[in-house]
Formats: sequence, C-alpha cells, structure tokens
Amino acid sequence: MPKNKNNDNQHEILIIDDEASIRKTLSEILSFEGYKISEATDGEEGLKLFSEKTFNAVLCDIKMPKMDGLEFLEKAAVLAPDVPIIMISGHGTIETAVEAVKKGAYDFISKPPDLNRLLITIRNAMEKTSLVAETKVLRKKVSKVQEIVGTSAPIQKIKETINKVAPTEARVLVTGPNGVGKELVARWVHELSNRSNSPLVEVNCAAIPTELIESELFGHEKGSFTSAIKQRIGKFEQANGGTLFLDEIGDMSLNAQAKVLRALQEGKITRVGADKDISVDVRVIAATNKDLLQEVEDKNFRLDLYHRLSVILINVPSLNERKDDIPLLVDQFLDDICKDYGITKKGIDEGAIESLQQYNWTGNIRELRNVVERLVILSGKTITAGDVQNYVAIG
Ligand SMILES: Nc1ncnc2c1ncn2[C@@H]1O[C@H](COP(=O)(O)OP(=O)(O)OP(=O)(O)O)[C@@H](O)[C@H]1O
Ligand SMILES: [Mg+2]
Repeated sequence: MPKNKNNDNQHEILIIDDEASIRKTLSEILSFEGYKISEATDGEEGLKLFSEKTFNAVLCDIKMPKMDGLEFLEKAAVLAPDVPIIMISGHGTIETAVEAVKKGAYDFISKPPDLNRLLITIRNAMEKTSLVAETKVLRKKVSKVQEIVGTSAPIQKIKETINKVAPTEARVLVTGPNGVGKELVARWVHELSNRSNSPLVEVNCAAIPTELIESELFGHEKGSFTSAIKQRIGKFEQANGGTLFLDEIGDMSLNAQAKVLRALQEGKITRVGADKDISVDVRVIAATNKDLLQEVEDKNFRLDLYHRLSVILINVPSLNERKDDIPLLVDQFLDDICKDYGITKKGIDEGAIESLQQYNWTGNIRELRNVVERLVILSGKTITAGDVQNYVAIG
C-alpha cells in the first residue's frame, strides 16, 4: 500500500471518542494514510470543532459523557448534512449503531477497529462526499445566473467594476432604486469570485422582524429565548467560506447593526444565548434602495458600519437613465418569457419599442419585465405600438 497517499489532498477527519486508546489507534492509522486528524473527547467538544470547520468525515463513538453519539449525529446533520458520519460501536451498542445508520449515519465500525474495514469505509465515505459536491457544482453550472443585459455606459461601467472587484475579498455595497438589478449585481460578484463554489446566502433584512434578526443572522442556542425550541445555525455560519448577501441593509435595526459591525471587524460571531465565539470566514455584499448617508445623518444607520460595508460602491441607475438598454432588455425578456410559456418567440415592432422607451419606468427593470409578460399574453404574433397603447398605461 503506498504511503501517505492522500497527502496532496489533505482530507480532514474528526475523531470523537472518550477512550484515549481508541482515538490514538484511529488517529495513527489515518494519519499514516495521509489524512489530517482532529480529536474530541465527547460529543460536545466534537460538535464545537464540527461547527468551527469543515471536515470530510467524522468517526464518532456512541457512548460518551456530556453528549452521546446519537445526539451529536442529530445536531451535526443540521449543521452540515453532507458530511458522512461513521459511528464507532463498542460492545452492547451495535443495535444503537444500526439505529444511527437509520437516522442518517453513513455506516458503523466495531471496536476494536478492523484496519481494512475502517479504511474501506472511510474511502467510500469520502467518495460519497466528493460526488455530492460534484453534483452541487454541476447543478450550479446548469442554473447559471441571469446575464446582465445592457450596453449603456452605466451598465458597461458596472460590469467592469464587477469583473475587477469580484475576485478580491472586498466588501461591496450595491445601491439604487427598486427593481434596477441590485440583487443581480450581487449574484455576479459572488459568481465571479473565488468563493463561487461555496454558498451565496441571502438575508432580506426588511422582511425579518427586529426581534428575530439577531437569531436569523447569528443563530441561537436551544432555550435562549421562549420560541427557541431548537438550536439554530445563523446565516453568517451558513455562509462560512462563501458570501453573505445582506439585502435591504438600510432596514436593519441599530442593535443588529452593532453586532454585524463586530462580525465584520473581528470575523467572529456569537449565537444568541451562547457564551462562545465562533470564527466565520464570510464575504459580505450589502444592498439598499435607501440613501444610507442620509440614514446616517438621521441617526438610523451607523457611520462606522457604512464605511465597513462600502469598500466598493456600485450604484445601479434607474432604467429611465439608461433607456438605450430597453431594446436589448425587451428582446431578452421576450426570449425568456416565451420559453417559459412554451411558445414560439413573439416579435415586436419598432413603434412598440419606441413607445416603451417613452414610458416612465418607476418600477425599473422588474416593471419592464412584467409589462413584456403582459404584452406576450395579450398581443398577437408581433407586438405593435397599438398593443403597447392598449395594454400599458403610459404615464
Ligand atoms: N440588466 C439586467 N438584465 C437582465 N435582467 C435584469 C437586469 N437587471 C435586472 N434584471 C431582472 O429584473 C428583476 C429585478 O432585479 P433585482 O431583483 O436584481 O432588482 P433589485 O434592485 O434587487 O430590486 P429591489 O430593490 O426591489 O430588491 C430580476 O428578475 C432581474 O433578473
Ligand atoms: Mg433586491
């Protein structure tokens, strides 16, 4: 058997067992095979390590003080459902081990561990994880982010900025009125970044009640407040290694702003009701339709947080300021919508485009898309100026 065969691909394995001799044996065998090993002496310590970094597999004893293997399994499945957990069963816990497999454990090995069986199980588990990861990447490639359509000067500049900024770790603040494409810009910054194979986690700060935002962002421990019946992993932790998109950041309470500031400054968060810090590696992109500096003046937004978020500012102008993009946008939407409806793409004549360019687009690109959808439904094979007049209330 070749020595240290996994060396160039440092897979990390977490071993949780209260028996030092078992940890030592497993750790020696697996280190020799080139795996990187972390050890914990009970489920509680194991879960802490598990929540702090990403492992490729876990070996977990069943009977342990503080938190047993089953409880660990249950909690770990919430934190990272794709990581295979292999139970180590001693005398008298085989039935429990079978039970654990039914509950989602990858497999179990018996004590004392049989070398061959151990290595085969670990190898199979690793293969499974890389398959799951590959499928995710594939799925991502299929569901590509919508192209940013437009050739107007402001759109060209935005695309240039995205290309330059995306591969850096710089925080980005996207501003602009409703429906201009702020979220689309944020998605592209993530897509073209080095984090694109990790998650982009989105939080709409305006949609979450003030009293829940902290738990939404940072998570909570079971029982930390009345409705906290289960431990919850917050968005910052979910986005670990990836990007967190804080949408409508202008609507975040001052209280939550203070905590977000700390997370950005120190790279650490604390779950509500917990006394320990958790390190997170998250790139933040924020968006708002508010004038944040005005909000600062009105004492609704912290200036220090504003500076942290706006390392790079991307302002997306209203559609009225880039009406030369309308023909291309309409063409794209006709394409998308007709495909969605399963019909042949409808045409649109010059006159119709001209009328659309005269419209006052208060709802910006989202409104334009809705209007095109309405026209597709109501018009004949080719959309005419008459259709626009009949079906769109030109303001
Ligand atoms: N340049 C563009 N090309 C193609 N589609 C676009 C473009 N800009 C926006 N869209 C589409 O318009 C819709 C609205 O965009 P998006 O949700 O990004 O806007 P927003 O600024 O975040 O809006 P809100 O302020 O309401 O949250 C989406 O369906 C988006 O895909
Ligand atoms: Mg948005």
